[in-house]
Amino acid sequence: MSLPKRVVLVGPMGAGKSTNGRMLAKELGYRFLDSDRIIEERCGANIPWIFDVEGEDGFRHRETAMLAELSEYPQTVLATGGGAVMKEENHAHLKRDSVVVYLKTSIEQQVERTRRDRNRPLLQNDDPEAVLRNLFAVRDPIYSLLADVVMFTDRKSPRLVVRQLVNRINPRTPRHKRQIRKEGRNHA
Ligand code: S3P
Repeated sequence: MSLPKRVVLVGPMGAGKSTNGRMLAKELGYRFLDSDRIIEERCGANIPWIFDVEGEDGFRHRETAMLAELSEYPQTVLATGGGAVMKEENHAHLKRDSVVVYLKTSIEQQVERTRRDRNRPLLQNDDPEAVLRNLFAVRDPIYSLLADVVMFTDRKSPRLVVRQLVNRINPRTPRHKRQIRKEGRNHA
């Protein structure tokens, strides 16, 4: 079995998609891309500004276009926004030539990891925990349905998450071969 063209990380806000994704990419010798960060770069504005000026619909429109574009990239670990699974038309982009990984996390961990964050417009209100619970109820079945791999991240270091992910994604590639591929890419 060879590595997939792409590994796509889905899951809620605070699941650790960026932290684990960056580390996983390094381990696989892949590039790491984060769709939210690229949307911000292209737009020249941050996500709260996009939500303010264009509304959530405007942001979702940009997100769909971005996922369509990024679904063409080879050798990539892609972190997606928590709501990327909500549009059915995105599903084909997320699944194309990819292993989809659902980083599953308790509400408590999500609350803890997003507590001081000001860059997530959906959580800027009096009861972010209630929002996270409601989103979980709606989205968890969709993440689960799309996922090839479900990985629990509570009480695990990124190092452990990545080790377990590599084993699940490609159990038969010995470590020394991954190292050779990594070195090849670094020198390209
Ligand atoms: C969102 C999650 C955010 C970002 C936007 C909307 C959501 O990404 O896309 O604020 O709907 O859950 P992260 O999951 O990376 O925080």
